[in-house]
Amino acid sequence: MPIIATENYFRLDTKTTSYIFCVHKEKYLAHLYWGRRLPEPSNLAHLVDTEITRRPSFTTNIIGSPAYLEDTPLEFACCGTGDNREPVFHAVNPDGSTVCEFCYEGYHLSSGKPKLEGLPATYSENPGESQTLEIITKDPRTGLRAILSYSIFDGSDAIARSIRYKNSGSEIVEILNPGSMGIDLWGLDYKILHLHGDHMRERNVEVVPVTNGLYSIESKRGHSSHMQNPFVALLRGTDEANMEHSGEAFGFSLVYSGNFRAIVEGSRGGSTRVAMGINPFNFHWLLAPGGTFQTPEVVLAYSASGLDGLSAVYHPLYRSCLCRGKFKDKQRPMLINNWEATGMHFTEKKILEIAKAGAEIGLELLVLDDGWFGHRDNDLSSLGDWVVNKEKLPNGLSGLAHNTNSLGLQFGLWFEPEMVSPDSDLYRAHPDYCLHAEGRPRTEGRNQLVLDFSKPEVRELVISSVTDILHSANITYVKWDCNRNINETAYLGHAHKHMLGVYEVMEKITSAFPDVLFEGCSGGGGRFDPGMLYYMPQTWTSDNTDPVDRIKIQHGTSIVYPPSSMVAHIGRTETGKHEFNQSLHFRALVAMCFNFGFQLDLSNFSDEEKEQSKEYVKTYRKIREVVQFGDFHRLESPFAPDGYASWIAVRQDKAKAVAFFFQTRPHRNGPDRRVRLRGLDPGKQYLFNSFDGSACVRFGAELMEAGLKVPMNEDATMIILETPRKYNP
Ligand code: GLA
Repeated sequence: MPIIATENYFRLDTKTTSYIFCVHKEKYLAHLYWGRRLPEPSNLAHLVDTEITRRPSFTTNIIGSPAYLEDTPLEFACCGTGDNREPVFHAVNPDGSTVCEFCYEGYHLSSGKPKLEGLPATYSENPGESQTLEIITKDPRTGLRAILSYSIFDGSDAIARSIRYKNSGSEIVEILNPGSMGIDLWGLDYKILHLHGDHMRERNVEVVPVTNGLYSIESKRGHSSHMQNPFVALLRGTDEANMEHSGEAFGFSLVYSGNFRAIVEGSRGGSTRVAMGINPFNFHWLLAPGGTFQTPEVVLAYSASGLDGLSAVYHPLYRSCLCRGKFKDKQRPMLINNWEATGMHFTEKKILEIAKAGAEIGLELLVLDDGWFGHRDNDLSSLGDWVVNKEKLPNGLSGLAHNTNSLGLQFGLWFEPEMVSPDSDLYRAHPDYCLHAEGRPRTEGRNQLVLDFSKPEVRELVISSVTDILHSANITYVKWDCNRNINETAYLGHAHKHMLGVYEVMEKITSAFPDVLFEGCSGGGGRFDPGMLYYMPQTWTSDNTDPVDRIKIQHGTSIVYPPSSMVAHIGRTETGKHEFNQSLHFRALVAMCFNFGFQLDLSNFSDEEKEQSKEYVKTYRKIREVVQFGDFHRLESPFAPDGYASWIAVRQDKAKAVAFFFQTRPHRNGPDRRVRLRGLDPGKQYLFNSFDGSACVRFGAELMEAGLKVPMNEDATMIILETPRKYNP
């Protein structure tokens, strides 16, 4: 059995790892080990023997109990019992005190993974494919229970952790910090890797050392945000130059799209605490007797082979056990989106011209972006009024969809359902429907306000208006946007209630339209998080389509998120089309590594550009399965100073692979570039057209160990590798 549970010792064995904790001094949950799989039996309880390690002064214990919690690596840390590090849970008891002592009561082991009420989470389709351990703890004085849940999945090195707080007492408990999980890892010699940025600069990679003190990664913007992604990794035994393929990596990824916080605390006792969950900032929850509070889950992943191994845990899990619906395993359509071509100034004729040009080069879907409703000619109006603008589209959406379909393309539509413009019929009728603080001015972002999804009447209205539009025409794709963050909420905990409402609306709409492919978006990648992927299997990665910037954005995003979830388009370019790093070729290759499409005025393309684009579409059709669903490896990092980046996608049977090589700045007379490929079958012979067009045959082992010489005179190149029978009898 992969989970071995006894009354006081718990061991979770995943594909290649062991995760072990115990009940310490008959009460507390102490963390013992997380890393490479250990032999059985092994008992590590001696590692939390605080009699040996206890510091002589400023260490507290509870009278009569020899547990020195500040010197104990814990699995779950509360407040007021001797541990002065950052707690995972913090609450006000009915008597006004904040002491909480969650004592071990028992455990429950089951096959399968229960749903988390109201929240997105990983799942397994068949109970035999996952197993869940619940550890039940209780604060004896208030009766509050914390039920810690651990799920593991067949063939995966991930562990999904969350906590359910249940008030089994007779009075209200006020939760201030509802942590989802905590862990104290042994040692301080870790580096923290996280993904930060801004609008147009999402998920850049930063690596900083763990220090003696607190490091926090968080969002207080109501959404997971462009600025910080709800993900953190600890790296050990490696450095930034080698972290892809060496050293240990411990990953923590929160399945939540609202305010979050991850803390990393180097403590005096020589361990490093990681805790993650909803941000306690502006949070407060009254938990009535009998009530439960379900926290979002954190997906933990371990790799003994650097970040590459960590991605190899997250990608398949998120693709198959987080994304849902028929599109999760389906090849995604190549599309043309009109946004960068026309903005909101378009006519039906113009859109159909773009669609026709798209059809001519072999695209499969036209997406009509912002500006089709109300009187929206700029971003000052009409959000909330989801009524087609007949001046722009005299034949309505159904006419446009019909005409698009006649060209051989599917039809998709942009929405921003969570927002309302002050200049809209909806706002004039219901000024109280938006998030605001009574008697104070309302903040605008991109001239818009956020609808308060904690209100049932708002949720119902949004569901019915989106549903009506989706029924009104043959729409098979929706781009669901969200173009501002939340500033003002009316009470503590409001942001979480709003988020639960957003999830409820997404659940209802996406399940009512199982044949529609939904794509998440938030000013580009401002809500590229696992919570969103539960409802929508792909996300517009960034509004920035400059290919050099995009390489960084896509590289950082790929650490956690699978290629099938990342949407990448050829955008228009401001500079001359033949300049270094701006050619159609360079832009195409940067976009072809993920879910490929175009976002420019194809109807203005020259014949030469059209012919070139046709070739990209043809090539993408050949490699689509591999790049969207293959194993993805980062080979060279655009964050390194040498100005190179490269990636490879390898089909799961290793019989086909596609490698992309980029130069993000010109290298005149630079040193020779040799790249070691990854993920191939060492014993198979791969056939590919080399950079000069000649056919080459090389063993996977040669390509991975000795490497491949990549030319210096091209900013973007790709090779497709195959293993024909002829060379592999
Ligand atoms: C956001 C999106 C863009 C586009 C615009 C439309 O910025 O990220 O792709 O849809 O909104 O207003």
